[in-house]
Amino acid sequence: MTTKQSAAGDPVAAALYRAAEDALLAPSILNTQPWHWRVHDATLELFVDPARQLHAADPHWRLMIISCGAALHHARVSLRATGYEPLVHRRPDPHQPWLLARIQAGPVHPPPASVLRTYQGIRRRRTDRRPFVGDVRVPADAIAGLRSAAEAEHASLYLLDPADVVYLRYAAQGAQTAGARDKVQAAELRQWTSRAGQEGVPPETVAGPKPRPVPTRDFGLGDEAGLEPGPGDDRSADYLVVATAGDDPAAWLHAGEAISAVWLHATVEGLAISPMSDVIEIPGARMLLRSLLHPTAQPQLVLRAGPASDAGPPPESPRRPASEAIDVG
Ligand SMILES: Cc1cc2nc3c(=O)[nH]c(=O)nc-3n(C[C@H](O)[C@H](O)[C@H](O)COP(=O)(O)O)c2cc1C
Repeated sequence: MTTKQSAAGDPVAAALYRAAEDALLAPSILNTQPWHWRVHDATLELFVDPARQLHAADPHWRLMIISCGAALHHARVSLRATGYEPLVHRRPDPHQPWLLARIQAGPVHPPPASVLRTYQGIRRRRTDRRPFVGDVRVPADAIAGLRSAAEAEHASLYLLDPADVVYLRYAAQGAQTAGARDKVQAAELRQWTSRAGQEGVPPETVAGPKPRPVPTRDFGLGDEAGLEPGPGDDRSADYLVVATAGDDPAAWLHAGEAISAVWLHATVEGLAISPMSDVIEIPGARMLLRSLLHPTAQPQLVLRAGPASDAGPPPESPRRPASEAIDVG
């Protein structure tokens, strides 16, 4: 049996299925949704789907595994909100590198209000690429909350000092030039921004071109970018770097879980986020970014952050249906 109905008779299987369904809303590199879920024997398994790899931009699977880590954290939040303590075994089988996690439903606890708020954030969270307006920065207490959210997931969060933002600009400019020069990478980007339907980055979620102190990824859409950028100039944007101590698949999975934790917390706090991974994909840009952090920190993703727009959230990006991404049995 491969349908939702086949999990419905058993409350644990139903909670695991719902956790996988909620996890389909996680952010992913170019909305590739590089995951597959299986509900089986009171266990939920998360697989990375190599067919969804970006071969040019992500040859080592870093961004794919980070995306799966974000989905894993979404699933954990969902299980907690249903009242089950998630018991997670990460990368449980060295012979199956694509099996990233096995999750079981542990002891039942009534979910605290903070978990329910975070859970509601799953449906409200979006990538917001519009430049921030005015001069309002992310408040220091909100930064402290975001930092704790990252640290609870075995990662760290750095707020770039305004004096260092110029180096992020150099890294972003260099990444853009290198990405555009690489014909295979440019074609890959085009492929994932021109898909109608259930995956890829829809043009209506990409802000029209506007000069910014730190350039964000150029999706190559020109006038087809369909999101009104609004009056902002991004001068007040804060740049947060999620970093880990290691730089291998185990660290990338934790980084993804931390990114989800930070982003959901930010959503609940009324903040807007858009990730910048071009500065991670291009080795020279990543090296420059790394030089701004503690010598042992490995940067995994930059999050551009600021107050959410008064104009309301940007449009939702589509997702593949659960029947394609979740198996039961
Ligand atoms: C690992 C990772 C890297 C990403 N890199 C970028 C990026 O460089 N630029 C960008 O605008 N969005 C980036 N995103 C955001 C995705 O494009 C976005 O999550 C996806 O299109 C789905 O949209 P949503 O977040 O609104 O649900 C990234 C997301 C993840 C998880």
